Amino acid sequence: MRPLIVIGNWKMNGNLASNQDWVKTVARGMESGMPAGRKFAVCPSFPYLSQCSTLIKEYSLAFLRLGAQDVSAHGAGAYTGEVGASMLKEMGCKYVIVGHSERRQMHQEADESVAAKALQVLDSGMTPVICVGETADERNSGRAEEIVCSQVAKQVSVLQDRLADCLIAYEPVWAIGTGKVASAQVAQDMHRAIRLQLAEFDEDVASHVGILYGGSVKPDNAVELFAMPDIDGGLVGGASLNPQDFLAICQA
Ligand code: PGA
Repeated sequence: MRPLIVIGNWKMNGNLASNQDWVKTVARGMESGMPAGRKFAVCPSFPYLSQCSTLIKEYSLAFLRLGAQDVSAHGAGAYTGEVGASMLKEMGCKYVIVGHSERRQMHQEADESVAAKALQVLDSGMTPVICVGETADERNSGRAEEIVCSQVAKQVSVLQDRLADCLIAYEPVWAIGTGKVASAQVAQDMHRAIRLQLAEFDEDVASHVGILYGGSVKPDNAVELFAMPDIDGGLVGGASLNPQDFLAICQA
């Protein structure tokens, strides 16, 4: 059985005061317990990792893990402005998002560098959350599955059996931050295609890898999405900024 995993991606939002309120509210909401067999994490911006790590400990939020939104593809060295995987590990991170479409589009990240980042994350003992997804044009031209499966295949070719320790997030670019969520069936079909692509490499790995859905996940669509057999949780952007919405999605 694959656990259900909900990861909040705050993107470039938050500040010291709002982060504190968020953790406090989530701690209160999780006090009475959370559904068994689930995992939860939040990914603040780099400068707030230390603060959030301290707050999570302060509020004894054992249910909530910490994650980062990106990482360098390199080990330590002369890479001004970069943040290394071992640094994130030291800050208490368990998950690291790699290859988010905003980074692929705005920072020209290619599959090769996404895989290199995933390897850095794995080598530091954390779990990479590898994002894949098609644009609206790619979907409209009937190439969505081909595009996404080729993104997955490139990760498989580099990561091989280490994929067993990764998460994949299917995030259709047209659904991110737009309020246009993929229907549960459209998302399920793509998650199935991703799993079949993984199975071409190794069936056992394919059946174990968690595949999260991302793109306008909200409390009112999470139940239907998470009920799908190949959807193992969500990568949640906008809705994760509101602690009540995040809690509602965690409980969906
Ligand atoms: P969204 O973002 O939930 O705001 O659509 C998801 C993501 O980019 O991870």
